[in-house]
This record gives sequence, structure tokens and C-alpha cells, in this order.
Amino acid sequence: MSGTSYEGAGKKVVLAYSGGLDTSTVTRWLVERDWEVVCLTADVGFLDADPDLEKRALAAGATRLVVEDAQATFARYFVLPALAAGAIYEDRYPLATALARPLIAKLLVDTARAEGAQAVAHGCTGKGNDQVRFDVSVAALAPDLTILAPVRDWELTTRPAEIAYAAEHGIPIRETTASPYSTDENLWGRSIEAGVLEDPWVEPPADVYQWTRSVAEAPDEPAFVEVQFEQGAPVAIDGVAMEPVPLIERMHALAGQHGIGRIDMVENRLVGIKSREIYEAPAAVALREAHQALEALTLSKPQQRLKRRLAQDYADLIYDGLWFTAHHQDLAAYVRSTQRHMSGTVRLRLHKGTVTAVGRRSPRSLYQLSLATYDAADQFDQSAAHGFIQIWGLPVRVQADSQLLQQPESPLQIAAGDDAEP
Ligand code: ARG
Repeated sequence: MSGTSYEGAGKKVVLAYSGGLDTSTVTRWLVERDWEVVCLTADVGFLDADPDLEKRALAAGATRLVVEDAQATFARYFVLPALAAGAIYEDRYPLATALARPLIAKLLVDTARAEGAQAVAHGCTGKGNDQVRFDVSVAALAPDLTILAPVRDWELTTRPAEIAYAAEHGIPIRETTASPYSTDENLWGRSIEAGVLEDPWVEPPADVYQWTRSVAEAPDEPAFVEVQFEQGAPVAIDGVAMEPVPLIERMHALAGQHGIGRIDMVENRLVGIKSREIYEAPAAVALREAHQALEALTLSKPQQRLKRRLAQDYADLIYDGLWFTAHHQDLAAYVRSTQRHMSGTVRLRLHKGTVTAVGRRSPRSLYQLSLATYDAADQFDQSAAHGFIQIWGLPVRVQADSQLLQQPESPLQIAAGDDAEP
């Protein structure tokens, strides 16, 4: 059981505040336990401009609300490195929620320092990944700060109980609280879970998706867009140089319109449970396609292979809340090194839910037409293939002679074995 003491005795805590039912109730719950609560809302992109956010925080009992515009920091220090790394969790999830947590933890710590607070708090449940990401990140950055996570420990274990508590304490609840889903949004993507989605057999109802059109509603004609990269980072769209935040927003709008970036998966949470998740990540999916296409042109085969393997480790460490670690620094140094010749342009086709790289070029390209071509310009010495194959195939010939051809089975059975016969 938790050993956390929630008695504030007049001390100060900085709470990561979204304005939703959970964090509003947490505010009051902490105030009731004699904490002075300062609320912090981090804008990591697509924060819905709620004019009443401050009013609601104060009504819940906070002494003040700090709103931090963290979009540029999020893009530069979290999103773009993850794009360069090719970090995708379990082959599908571009990690939007997971990437924002260490940044929000950093902002909590900075605000706690500025406010002279003794603790930080969040509204995560005890079943998810986000609590781990917050707690581990805060512990790395400020081991002296107490971390309060009331939702893990409190008596308001059901939603109706929480709503009753809120009503009893005069905490205004937004109408959107009526949403049957639990969502999280930022520049890199939108995460949706709970409600009917908890049944992995049920197809997501249309109202789950807010950022992307359905394939049916997407335009019949494809759109083409050119993304320019410099050292692994996207820097321009259709020839127009852009800062990372507007660039991602632009890609978000284009790809979303064409129905790109819907993800429906069952994933393995860090706490050991499988969970059904829906994501909308139009910009992430489109930019990843472009980034991969350019890597295919500018990285050698062994570079691509190792990088792909490490991308899985990179994704895991982001997912698992290990952003502020030396292991991450080491991996990131490798990734940055791989990106030093990753400059060039990719042309994407966006059409009916699918993004496809249909053109790529780079001043540092490893693709040589004179080697690849089948026409007169061919510079590849085909006669040299004899000697190459002679040596390459040598161990195979030796083994076939002394083993494979001595066996009773047909060589057809090398992979499928005996039972393959229909
Ligand atoms: N499963 C995703 C993750 O762990 C998304 C979590 C969404 N969080 C939320 N509060 N709805 O990164």
C-alpha cells in the first residue's frame, strides 16, 4: 500500500492541471488536506483554448494557475529527436502522450522551484503509464520533491463518486466531461481510450476521431506535398521554410484531411496490462514516411539495420518513462550521428488514408543511377559478378555437398518440413 502522506500542513504543491474532472477534483481534495495548490497547465500543442480554465482552477481551490507555452520546446527537444530516432512503440504508436510527460515533469519541477513548493502532483491513475513517466522523471530532476498522485490512493474510486464529490464541493465541471473517452492531445498526436473501446472487438465509433477524416470523406483526388529535411529534421514544406511547430501543424492539417494517421491497436502497458488504444497522429505518420524514405537514400545498409534495431529500444525507453537517463543520452548521440547526411527532399502522396513517398532526392544520396541503371549509361561491371558469387556461394556449395544432398529429405522440406503436404 502507498506510504504517501497527503497531509499538507500549509505546504505548497504544484499540480499538472488540465481543467478536466480529475485534476479539478484533485485540486480540491488537496486543498481539503491543507495544501496550497498552484496549478500548472502546459501547452504542448492543440490545447483547447478554454477561456474559463483559470476560473475553474481557482473555483476548485487553487491559489493560481500558471499556463506555460511549451510547444516550441516540445517540438525541438522531444518530437524531432523521436522522429529522427524512428521511435514507434510496438510498430504503431508514435508516442505523442509518452513524449510530453517528461517535459511536463520538467515544467512541474521548474514551477515548484520558482514557487518554493515542496511537492508536485498529477492526476494519473495507478493503472497507466503516465504516472510512471511523471514520477520517474520528477525523481530524476528533483529527488527532494514529494510526488502526490491522489487518484492512485483516494476514496473516489468510481467516476460517479468523483462527480458527486465535485458537486458537493461546488467544482464546476465542463460539459465535455460527458465524453465517454479518456483523451490526451498534443502537437504529435491524440490518444483515446476507455468507454466502448475497452472491448477490442468493437470498431471505434466515428466520434472517436476528431483530427482525421474517414477514408469515405477524404478527397477523391490525391494531394502531393514536399518535405525538406536538414540533418534529419523537417525544415520546409513545399519549399517554404518553417519552424517546427507550424511545420508540424501544417502537416497535421494536410494529412488529417486525407484521413491519414488513424491507429487502432492493443498495446502492452508498462504496468503489465494490455490495453486497447486509438491514436490519431496525422503529422507523425506522414513525417515518418518521409523521414524513412530519405534514410533509405542516405544511410548505408548496416546503418539502416542497426538504427532500426535501436529505434525499438528508443521507443521503449520513451514509453517506459526513462527519458532523463544516461542510456537515452547514449542512444541519442548515436541517432544524431546517423543524421549528419540526412538532408534532402521527399515528395509524399496523400490519398484516402494512405501516405506514400513517391519521390526522394538528396545532395548526399547514396543512390547512383550509373550503377543502378539498365540502359547504356551503366557503369556496373557485370562480369565482376562471377567472382563475387564464386566466393559468396563457396560455403553454401561446401555444405550442400557434404550435408544437404546427403540427407534423405527433399530439399523442398528445408523450411516447411514434412507436414506441409496438403
Ligand atoms: N497508452 C498511451 C500511452 O501510454 C496513451 C495514454 C493516454 N493517456 C490518457 N490520459 N488518456 O502513452
